[in-house]
Amino acid sequence: MDYFNYRDGHLYAEDLAVKELAEEFGTPLYVYSRATLERHFQAYDQPLQGHPHLICYAVKANSNLAVLNVLARLGAGFDIVSQGELERVLAAGGDPARVVFSGVGKQVNEIRRALSVGIKCFNVESLPELERIDSVAESMGVIAPISIRVNPDVDPQTHPYISTGLKANKFGIAFDEAPAVYQRAASLSHLKIVGVDCHIGSQITQLAPFLDALERLLVLVEQLKEQGIQLQHLDLGGGLGVTYDQENPPSPSDYAKAVIERLGQTDYELIFEPGRSIAANAGLLITRVEYLKQGEEKNFAIIDAAMNDLLRPALYDAWQAIVPVEPPKPGALPARWDLVGPVCETGDFLGKDRQLALLPGDLLAVRSAGAYGFAMASNYNTRNRPAEVMVDGAHRQLVRQRESYEQQMAGEQLLSR
Ligand code: LLP
Repeated sequence: MDYFNYRDGHLYAEDLAVKELAEEFGTPLYVYSRATLERHFQAYDQPLQGHPHLICYAVKANSNLAVLNVLARLGAGFDIVSQGELERVLAAGGDPARVVFSGVGKQVNEIRRALSVGIKCFNVESLPELERIDSVAESMGVIAPISIRVNPDVDPQTHPYISTGLKANKFGIAFDEAPAVYQRAASLSHLKIVGVDCHIGSQITQLAPFLDALERLLVLVEQLKEQGIQLQHLDLGGGLGVTYDQENPPSPSDYAKAVIERLGQTDYELIFEPGRSIAANAGLLITRVEYLKQGEEKNFAIIDAAMNDLLRPALYDAWQAIVPVEPPKPGALPARWDLVGPVCETGDFLGKDRQLALLPGDLLAVRSAGAYGFAMASNYNTRNRPAEVMVDGAHRQLVRQRESYEQQMAGEQLLSR
């Protein structure tokens, strides 16, 4: 559920007409709804009241400071994968004691920074990383809290590029090897074992793979207990899918309730790392039609947003709804349109074969663009990245200015000789 609705044929973001936002801030423009972000966070948080838990929003999905700030104010934790994300969390008022640090390639300087601000936990993905964290902690005279990311080898039945919990993936430590890695961790003097984590993939639309992964983790937890290793938390990662088209994923509250039911009276702290299910449907990408090109085989609407602004369609062949911002104007041409950007690549499209009635100058909204949208934007073709606006009721705030050419070129130099 989101707060982007039509009123008399005009698309609104909460209480503001999207057309007016586009006119005020220009296009392409990312528009986020604070109420939607809050609602999605609460959908995880509420059912877990009464059980120790922490919702660590996956910063990679959308790392705008205002988005992080909305969540920090609700008491969210954060799942980070780089020092850059950590700096953003800190700048947004996030509590470092609620940060978990995932990712296969943590560098020494990143580990040091995370230790110096006192994060909650490192989600360790390999034996060499475990040893590295121990030695950095030793050099600083501190103890590093760690969890081992195990690979439960369950098939999340999602796109191969975003499934991460299979044996063939680069992530985590094989289930069967995990006890030995825990033993090694227990033997290292500057580590404190606090938990176990997994993340099996993204855009998962059924509960079964998550519950299968939980079963696997619980087997491991028991095994570790027998070996004298007592964990404090279970981190189930992120991955819950959203509705882009016809998908009907379980809601965050269904998911949270199912997990609580399985865990019963155990007092392990539960951690989730949702990204998409919090941010995706809290954002729109607004774009304007520049030209219409009706060809013999295809009708192209050339829009001012491109693959550099929203990469998912080009990269994963992802489908996102593209809807009109206003009722069709007199003379609009109804047809099936390929919505393509100005970037010089055949793969530069945001949607194909979309039935719309269009005229040049029309505004369109790409839905479900709040996650892995701006966060994956680039400057390809030297295009400035879009502006971002946060809507809160009838209030709106520019939360990132449109990038400028000066900003893009800052830091570059002509040759000195
Ligand atoms: N935790 C870890 C360790 C992750 O690797 C990820 C996402 C998450 C949490 C958050 O997963 P989510 O709840 O958002 O599914 N760019 C792709 C998605 C890549 C997801 C990578 N890992 C896309 O646009 O579909």
